Amino acid sequence: MNYYGMTKDDLNNQFNNVKKKYAQLAKEKLSLDMSRGKPCAEQLDIALPLLDILNSSFKSPKGADYRNYGLMDGIPEMKAIFAELLEIEKEKVFVGGGSSLNLMYDMITRAYCFGILGNTAWCKLPKIKFLCPVPGYDRHFAVCELFGIDMISIPMNEQGPNMDLVEEYVKDPAVKGIWCVPRFSNPDGVVYSDEVVDRLVSMKTAAPDFRIFWDNAYCIHELYPDAQKLKNIFKAAELAGNADRVYMFASTSKITFGGAGISMVALSEKNLAATIKLAGIQTINYDKLNQFAHAIFLKSAENVRHIMQQHANIIRPKFELVDRILSEAFADCANISWSKPKGGYFITLKVPEGMAKKIIELCKKVGLVLTPAGSTHPLKQDDSDSIIRIAPTFPNITELEEASNVLVCCMSYAILEKLTA
Ligand SMILES: Cc1ncc(COP(=O)(O)O)c(C=O)c1O
Repeated sequence: MNYYGMTKDDLNNQFNNVKKKYAQLAKEKLSLDMSRGKPCAEQLDIALPLLDILNSSFKSPKGADYRNYGLMDGIPEMKAIFAELLEIEKEKVFVGGGSSLNLMYDMITRAYCFGILGNTAWCKLPKIKFLCPVPGYDRHFAVCELFGIDMISIPMNEQGPNMDLVEEYVKDPAVKGIWCVPRFSNPDGVVYSDEVVDRLVSMKTAAPDFRIFWDNAYCIHELYPDAQKLKNIFKAAELAGNADRVYMFASTSKITFGGAGISMVALSEKNLAATIKLAGIQTINYDKLNQFAHAIFLKSAENVRHIMQQHANIIRPKFELVDRILSEAFADCANISWSKPKGGYFITLKVPEGMAKKIIELCKKVGLVLTPAGSTHPLKQDDSDSIIRIAPTFPNITELEEASNVLVCCMSYAILEKLTA
C-alpha cells in the first residue's frame, strides 16, 4: 500500500484499520522470532547422522589416533574438504573448533597482544582503527568495541564496500584492518565484485600489518544456482604480492550444526606459521574427534554441495514468503525497499528514515522479536534509523507467515502514525 499519495481522510481511515489489527495482534499473545540467523530444526536434522557416525572409530586412514593429543592445526581430512570447497591449497588451512567467530577473535587478540609478523603489538599503539562496511555483522563490531578499536563505517553498495573510501582511509597507518563478509554479506546479501576483490588486495596500505578479515561465512550458501560467484581472494592477493594481507574464515555452522560444527581460517605460509606458534601456547589442539566425524559425514566437497542444496530447498521458500508478503504490502512504495538475496541468511529491510526503532518496538510489544535497531552498524548507531535486519530461516513457514504479517502491520502503523500526526 502506498500511503504516501493518499488524502488525509484516507490516511485516517487506514490508520484506524491498522490500529484495530494491531490491537487484535496484541491480544493473541504471540511469540515469534526473526532476530538471529540460525538454521531451523529441519536443517539441523540433515546432519543428524553425524552424531552416530564415529561408532567407536577413531583412527585416521593413515593410522593416527584421533582420541589423543596432537595436530594443532587440524586433521588432514577436514583440511582437504575446506581446501577443495574454497579452492585454496590445503597447506593454507588451519582447522579450529566449533566457531569461526572464535578464530576471528583470536586473530585480533594475537595482533593486539603480540603484533603481526614482527610489527608493533596493537595494544602499544595510541590508536587502532578498523574499516567496517555497513550494514554489517554486529558481532564483528562487538569485537572491535571490546578492544577499543575505532570503527570507521564504509557504506556498502551492490559491488561491496565503497572502495574509493576504503583506499582513502588505508593511507592512515592506524587503520589496521577491514571486516568483509564477501559472499551474501550479512545482512545485505551482496557478493563482492571481482573489481572490489582486486582493489582490496592490491591497494597500498600505510600499515604493513593491515589485514583483510575475509569472513566467508556464507561461501557456499546459495539459495539459487545462478548466484554470483566470488573471485578467489588468495589467488588475487598472491598475484598482487600481498598474500599475507588475507585472513579467510569459514565454518560448517550452517552446513552441519550451529556453533558445534568445524571452523577454519586460511592463511599465507608466514601467517600460518605465526598462528600455529601462538595457538600452540593457547591450546593443545582442537576437538579432532568432531573434526573426524565431520570429515566422515561430509565426505567430499561435492557431497557438501549436495548438502547445501538440501539446506537451500528448506530455506528458499522462507525467503520467498517474506518477499511475497512485503511485495503485496509495499511494492509500490518508493521509500521502502528490501534485499532479494541469492544466498546467505538475511534480508535487509530499508524503511523510511527515523522509523526502524519505532517499528521494532511495535513488533516487540505484540510478541515479534527482531534484531535490535542499529545492530547492523558500529556502536549500534544507525543514524538514519532505517535499517531492519530480517532473519527468516529459523521460524517454521507458518510462524514466518505470521511474523511477516505482524511486521507489515507494524510498518503500516508507524508510517500512518507519522502521516496522520
Ligand atoms: C558473517 C558471519 N560470520 C560469522 C558467523 C558465526 O560463525 P560461527 O558459527 O562459525 O562462529 C555468523 C553467524 O551468524 C555470521 O553471520
